[in-house]
Amino acid sequence: MQKPNFEEARTTDKRSYETKKFALEEKYQNYFKGKTYFLKTYGCQMNEHDSENIEAILENLGFQKIENYEQADLILLNTCSIRENAHNKAFGMLGRCKHLKEKKKDLMIGLCGCMAQEEVVVEKVLAHYPWLNFVVGTHNFYEIPKLLVRSLKEGLQVEVYSRERDLVEGMPTHRAHSYKAYVNIIYGCDKFCTYCIVPFTRGRQRSRTKEAILEEIQNLIKDGYKEVVLLGQNVNAYGKDLYDDYGFGELLEDVSLLNIPRIRFVTSHPWDFTDEMIDLIAKYPNIMPSIHLPVQSGSNRILKRMGRRYTKESYLHLVTKLKEKIPHLALSTDIIVGFPGETEEDFQETLSLVDTCQFDNAFTFIYSQRIGTAATKLKGQVDEKIKEERLQRLNEKVNGYFLQNNQRLVGQNLKVLVEGRSMKQKDAYFGYTETNKLVNFTGENIEVGEIVSVKIEEAKTWSLDGRKSEDFKASR
Ligand code: 5AD
Ligand code: SF4
Repeated sequence: MQKPNFEEARTTDKRSYETKKFALEEKYQNYFKGKTYFLKTYGCQMNEHDSENIEAILENLGFQKIENYEQADLILLNTCSIRENAHNKAFGMLGRCKHLKEKKKDLMIGLCGCMAQEEVVVEKVLAHYPWLNFVVGTHNFYEIPKLLVRSLKEGLQVEVYSRERDLVEGMPTHRAHSYKAYVNIIYGCDKFCTYCIVPFTRGRQRSRTKEAILEEIQNLIKDGYKEVVLLGQNVNAYGKDLYDDYGFGELLEDVSLLNIPRIRFVTSHPWDFTDEMIDLIAKYPNIMPSIHLPVQSGSNRILKRMGRRYTKESYLHLVTKLKEKIPHLALSTDIIVGFPGETEEDFQETLSLVDTCQFDNAFTFIYSQRIGTAATKLKGQVDEKIKEERLQRLNEKVNGYFLQNNQRLVGQNLKVLVEGRSMKQKDAYFGYTETNKLVNFTGENIEVGEIVSVKIEEAKTWSLDGRKSEDFKASR
């Protein structure tokens, strides 16, 4: 048994890892033929992409995916630690699993992902959920076959590495879409923002080699993919741990030259965003004009306490440069309210920053205390009621700008990558604009995976409605 340890995670040396190739041992191939699995994913795109790898591994073991957890032979939860409510959801699901397990003794259940990396979670699992088959961390998904098989004889297997070890290439992937693909470029994060658990659960920053990334994208292009989303907790730091003269800008340029129609990337950190990167995004039409740039707060005092390494002024300066250089730019952000010590004046500064930036989208959160992070030691925890009231005021403001920005698009023709048929409206489709806005639209001869021109007829807060048009001079 290997339990997680935050102190080890915090003190890991850089460059202490190697790259190795995934291979499923022969003896595990089809070991579970005829069995079914249900996989529930919580959290961010990184987790969604990990789940794409896990699904492919399970399918190599012979499992078949089903959507009803009550009928599955294996239930696997790929968990998220970022806020308390993500924890609560996963433990709620484990509670439901417990009832099922009482009725179905041979049901297999596993917990993996970020929560598995937390000391407190593993202690709780050992005390209250000893009937689980395995707990696997974010650094060793590839060991699921071995641990699952071993658990059938030996019971609960806990295998969580706090020090990330090897960077594993060549994991099989069961992609969720056939036209849009997630591609990891960098794992982990070195920023240690004081509220954030990610550097503990995902480890220190580790970039994949440029060769591995470009090869993966070339293969995606061959398979007909139209869009890649380059993934990392802080994509702008790409390469810093690996190369002296090759960073995110160079990678963006090389990916752009492969000629895939759409390139997106999440998430950007203002600290690592260089002028060179801005110029490249502006230069290449296949790099989408949509940037997710978390600000977290508009108060310098709070930004300092958060350990964000920029000021309100430097953030605004970056936003001005981005907007000047990248036509039609859509800017989105993350904001936390109620960070320890946040006063009404600090919060007003956040509202004022929102007025200046007029974001196209914003994910807003109430500060949630994470055990092990530096912010738990800060004085001045904000009352829950005040946090909720601030969140509501913030949401009213950001929503107003979403709608206002969308209304400007009414009457324009925009390029939309068709993602599927609309669930809500019969005979309608949905897709995303270059600026990452959701569009529901109607029209004839529409194929999923195509890029079409859509005339926008109506703006809503979180989406646009339109009709396919034949105007191929469509705007972004
Ligand atoms: N409490 C609330 N929000 C958080 N985030 C990260 N950690 C916390 C926390 N402890 C938010 C940040 C980050 C996003 C992914 O989640 O805004 O950008
Ligand atoms: Fe967390 Fe900060 Fe790293 Fe983002 S940059 S993952 S908020 S530590």
